[in-house]
Amino acid sequence: MCSYFSPYPFVSFLFIIIFFHDFPFSFGEDDYTFLNCSRGVFECGDVKNIGYPFWGKGRAQYCGHPDFELKCEEDEDDAIQIVIQGQNYRVLNIFENNHTLRMRTMNPVKNNCPARLPNISLPNNLFNYAAPFNQNITLLYDCPSSIPQLIGNTIPCLTNDTTTSYYSIDSQNIPLPRNVWSCSTVVKVPILQAIVTTYTELLQSMLGGFDVTYVVPNNSECIQCENTRGQCGYDRGMQPTCFCSDGPYQGNCTNKPPDTRVGHSSSLPMKTNRA
Ligand SMILES: *[C@@H]1O[C@H](CO)[C@@H](O)[C@H](O)[C@H]1NC(C)=O
Ligand SMILES: *[C@@H]1O[C@H](CO)[C@@H](O)[C@H](O)[C@H]1NC(C)=O
Ligand SMILES: *[C@@H]1O[C@H](CO)[C@@H](O)[C@H](O)[C@H]1NC(C)=O
Ligand SMILES: *[C@@H]1O[C@H](CO)[C@@H](O)[C@H](O)[C@H]1NC(C)=O
Ligand SMILES: *[C@@H]1O[C@H](CO)[C@@H](O)[C@H](O)[C@H]1NC(C)=O
Ligand SMILES: *[C@@H]1O[C@H](CO)[C@@H](O)[C@H](O)[C@H]1NC(C)=O
Ligand SMILES: *[C@@H]1O[C@H](CO)[C@@H](O)[C@H](O)[C@H]1NC(C)=O
Repeated sequence: MCSYFSPYPFVSFLFIIIFFHDFPFSFGEDDYTFLNCSRGVFECGDVKNIGYPFWGKGRAQYCGHPDFELKCEEDEDDAIQIVIQGQNYRVLNIFENNHTLRMRTMNPVKNNCPARLPNISLPNNLFNYAAPFNQNITLLYDCPSSIPQLIGNTIPCLTNDTTTSYYSIDSQNIPLPRNVWSCSTVVKVPILQAIVTTYTELLQSMLGGFDVTYVVPNNSECIQCENTRGQCGYDRGMQPTCFCSDGPYQGNCTNKPPDTRVGHSSSLPMKTNRA
């Protein structure tokens, strides 16, 4: 087959140059912030294709909300971490369809023994217990006198001649005596809804984590942005930003008067380690 231009290779070359110069195709011109947010999904182990409001590991900070940084611990079997109110959590799964994180405190069980766990505190503007999917257990550490109601619920590895530790499944409504407050620590721990009858099941349920729903920040702005083929994120001033193929804007990709244009690439927050 003979190309139409083949007798004039130089002319056709010029033609191509001029044509592409005058009509730049968007794939050659797309803004890198737009490309980074559309391609740079978060992936770690079995958790794949995670987008806004999350960021971390190959997904730039400006593609997500500052409070939704995920870390992927590649040297620990791709364990995912998130920090909420200064506390580290292990993320076991992310369900973007219903905005749910399944997570647990970092090491709730060590050497087959419940760790001494802190109370969990969630900032309820962004993260909330997925109430019907969870239940609470109460751990009572180092109680100086025995609690007869919980005699079948001792924690052997935290019990010795002088003190006894117990667990209680809140839904069983076992009335606790006043003297639980003489135990060194009393903590409520959320676990998924499941029947817990044995100590082994207790340990398993603590490893299984609990469900937390998250609020997608500026969700309505983000949906408008995505509906106009944009990518959601934030600029350095914490303004919701829509990354369009020709650059970042406030608003959406069909409503972007020049004066709403957010400072370009150099003023965007680059990946930093937040304390
Ligand atoms: C965005 O993408 C460009 C080009 O692929 C890359 O060089 C840059 O490091 C990325 N920036 C961030 C913050 O990920
Ligand atoms: C957990 O919270 C309960 C109730 O607020 C409190 O009594 C207990 O001391 C707290 N435990 C820890 C370990 O902070
Ligand atoms: C969210 O969806 C997952 C799987 O799609 C399901 O297992 C989980 O129970 C759901 N959680 C909530 C809070 O809806
Ligand atoms: C579990 O305990 C926490 C903290 O005390 C409470 O906010 C939450 O509603 C409880 N969850 C259930 C399912 O009872
Ligand atoms: C029993 O355990 C408690 C709490 O860990 C500890 O303070 C205490 O010294 C232990 N007592 C004995 C006799 O081992
Ligand atoms: C984004 O969300 C925050 C917190 O909900 C709100 O204060 C702010 O006004 C929103 N930004 C815009 C542009 O709507
Ligand atoms: C884009 O923004 C304009 C102005 O706020 C709004 O009228 C329009 O509905 C938005 N487009 C979409 C698809 O949401």
